[in-house]
Amino acid sequence: MKQKLYINGGWVEGSYEVELFSPFSGDKLADIACASLEQVDQALTSAVRAKEKMRMLTAYERSLILEEVSSLLMARREEAARLIAAESAKPIKAAYVEVDRTATTFKLAAEEAKRIYGETIPTDSVAGGENRLAFTKKEPVGVVGAITPFNFPMNLVAHKLGPAFAAGNSVMLKPAEQTPLSAFFIAGLFHEAGLPSGALNVVIAPGKEIAEYIVKDERVNYISFTGSPKVGEQVRSSARLKRVTLELGSNSAVIIDRDVNVAKVAARCVAGAFSNQGQVCISLQRIYVVEDIYESFIEHFMQEMRQLVLGDPLDPHTDLSALINPAAAARALAWVKEAMQQGAGLLAGGIAEGRLMQPTVLVEVPESAKVIQEEVFAPLVCINRVSNIEQGIELVNQSQYGLQAGIYTNQLGIALDAADKLQAGGVMINDIPTFRLDHLPYGGWKSSGIGREGIKYAMEEMCETKLVIFNRN
Ligand code: SIN
Repeated sequence: MKQKLYINGGWVEGSYEVELFSPFSGDKLADIACASLEQVDQALTSAVRAKEKMRMLTAYERSLILEEVSSLLMARREEAARLIAAESAKPIKAAYVEVDRTATTFKLAAEEAKRIYGETIPTDSVAGGENRLAFTKKEPVGVVGAITPFNFPMNLVAHKLGPAFAAGNSVMLKPAEQTPLSAFFIAGLFHEAGLPSGALNVVIAPGKEIAEYIVKDERVNYISFTGSPKVGEQVRSSARLKRVTLELGSNSAVIIDRDVNVAKVAARCVAGAFSNQGQVCISLQRIYVVEDIYESFIEHFMQEMRQLVLGDPLDPHTDLSALINPAAAARALAWVKEAMQQGAGLLAGGIAEGRLMQPTVLVEVPESAKVIQEEVFAPLVCINRVSNIEQGIELVNQSQYGLQAGIYTNQLGIALDAADKLQAGGVMINDIPTFRLDHLPYGGWKSSGIGREGIKYAMEEMCETKLVIFNRN
C-alpha cells in the first residue's frame, strides 16, 4: 500500500517516502509519502484560502458534512478498526470501540455545529450605557493547526477536526508519524462527504520540523496539540501569541475506600491500568487503597489481571499487545528497576519480549520513584496503601499532573469532599480516572495542559468572540 498526502482537496505524492511497520510483527504496512516544507507551505496557502469558504458555509451545511462522515465511517467500521489495530497495535476489540467513538465524536460535532450561540448583554448596568443594544457573536478563528498522537489515532483526530469544522474553520493536520494511516483514512471520508477543497490538509514527515512549521506560521490562528508535556511546552513557547489548547500527560490515580465491592472495583481498575497497554493519557497508574482492604484488593486485582491475554492485536481475544516502539518498553522497564531499587515490590511483569511488555504491578512504591512521579505510558500500575482518604487525596495531589482522578466510596460526604479537594480537570466518583465520554469537557490542570476538549468546549476555543454594540440614540 502507498499512502499519499492530502493537500488542497487532492491526493499528492510526497517529496520522499518512508516505510511504515507494524509495531507488533514488524511487517511492512505501507509506504508513506512525506511532505517537504514547500508542500507544507502550499497546504497552508490552501487552508488560508479555504477558511473563507468554510466561514461562508451555513451551520446546516457544516453539520451535514460531519453527519455524513460519521455514517461513512460506520459503513467501513471493520476496515477502520483493522487499520487502527495494524498501525498502533491497539487490540482489535479496543479498536472497534475507538471507531465507534470516532463516529460519535463526528456526530456530536454535527449536532453542535447548530448550537453556536453568542449572548445579549444589558448595557444600561453602567452609566453611559443607555439606549444601546450589545450582543456577542462567535466567529471561526480561521486556520486550526492540529497535532495528534499515536494512542487514539482516529478519535483524537476527530476531536480536532470535528469541532474545527463545526465552528467553520479550515485545518492543517499533522498526525503522529507512527500512525498516519488512520488520519488519512478520515481525510478520505471528508473528501467523499464533500468538504470544500483546502479545508483539510494532512501532511506528515518524520521528526518535528512540520509540526514546528505549523505552530510558528503566522497564517495559523490556533493550535490544538495532544502529546507529551515536554513537547507541549515547546509548542506553547513557539506559538507565541497564538491561542493554544494542550492535552498533555498524566499519572492518573484512584483512591479506594474500605466500604466498596472490592472484586468489582479491582476488575475495573485492571481495565483502567492496562487498556491499550497503558498508552492512554488517563491510564490508571497509581492506586491508593485504605489499609483495611489493601490485601483483599490486591488479591482480587491479581486474579483479574491474570486473565489478560497478550498477543496479536488482530486476534479478537487479545487484551494487550505491543507498545508503540521498543524504546517505550525499555524506558518503562528501567523505571521498574529504579522503583525496585528504592524498595518497591514487584507482583507481576517487569519484563518484555521485544515490544510486548507484560502487565506490571508494583506495590509499596516509594513516592519518589519515577513510576509514581512521571507518566509511564506502558502497562504498569502502582498499588500503595494509605491510612485514610485524606492521605490518599494528599498523595494524588502531590503530582505535577492533574488530568483526571477517581475515588471509590459509599460515603456521600467523602465523595463530595474528594470532588472539592482533588486537583484535576475531571473527578470520577465510583469510577476509574480512565473514564471519558466524548462530549464532556476533557483537559488538565497543572502540567496536564491548557484548555478543554469535548466538542462544545473545543469549539469555544476554536471561535473568536466578537462584540457588537448598536447605538439607538
Ligand atoms: C487520551 O489519551 O488523552 C485520550 C483518552 C480517551 O479519549 O479515552
